[in-house]
Amino acid sequence: MSRKLMIAGNWKLHLTVEEAVSLAGEIASGLMREDLDILVIPGFLALEPVALSLSSSPVLVGGQNIFWEDQGAYTAEVSGPQLKAAGARYVLIGHSERRQYFNETEKTCRLRLEAALKAGLRPILCVGETLAERESGQAEGVLESQLSGGLAGLEAGQMDQVTIAYEPVWAIGTGLTASEEQAAQAHAYIRGWIGARFDKDVANSTRILYGGSVNPANAAGLLNQPEVDGALVGGASLSAESFLGIIQAA
Ligand code: 13P
Repeated sequence: MSRKLMIAGNWKLHLTVEEAVSLAGEIASGLMREDLDILVIPGFLALEPVALSLSSSPVLVGGQNIFWEDQGAYTAEVSGPQLKAAGARYVLIGHSERRQYFNETEKTCRLRLEAALKAGLRPILCVGETLAERESGQAEGVLESQLSGGLAGLEAGQMDQVTIAYEPVWAIGTGLTASEEQAAQAHAYIRGWIGARFDKDVANSTRILYGGSVNPANAAGLLNQPEVDGALVGGASLSAESFLGIIQAA
């Protein structure tokens, strides 16, 4: 079963609204590939302006997080219906920075994932081990608990909306990319886990992105791995030149 590659740019806590709209415009006008899904993930303030500026472009827009209630007395949270109405199509769930600095747990990831599906957004569930976990032989155990927690109770039929992003924490923002073999091995583990938890068809059709210091020089090697279905890019997505370079390498 063929899986469409996705190149996604997570802009994290960077760019003013004006800068974000300008970068989105540069990406859209430089785009030469329509066989890939291209996604930009701005901060919340820039999401709607960026989505509006991309309305006649194939570039998709996503949110960096989502709260599990639709509305209510939850100061500073952003809900699924708000994201959807602002133009988001995808949303990150459980990015390691959220797990590390904002106490995201498997349980809150699962609630957010449910809220995304309910709002008609496609969740991108981020999983990945720290260096200490890798070095002590726990990498697969960590992936297993993040996958089983984040996807708890999900039915096979809902998995066509779900993307997984494997982002080893030690490779994020460090310049230390996972080797092609390390990425291939982790992706194969994740696909095997999905096959065992759901079924082979679900495993074969689920898109699994790699994230962690992806740049135009290393993108082709990583994306050539048959189990790697795209990239979730941080730092190198903040310049049109390097993001387009990654797209071109795909
Ligand atoms: P870097 O590409 O800066 O390592 O960030 C990866 C990431 O966290 C994307 O979500």
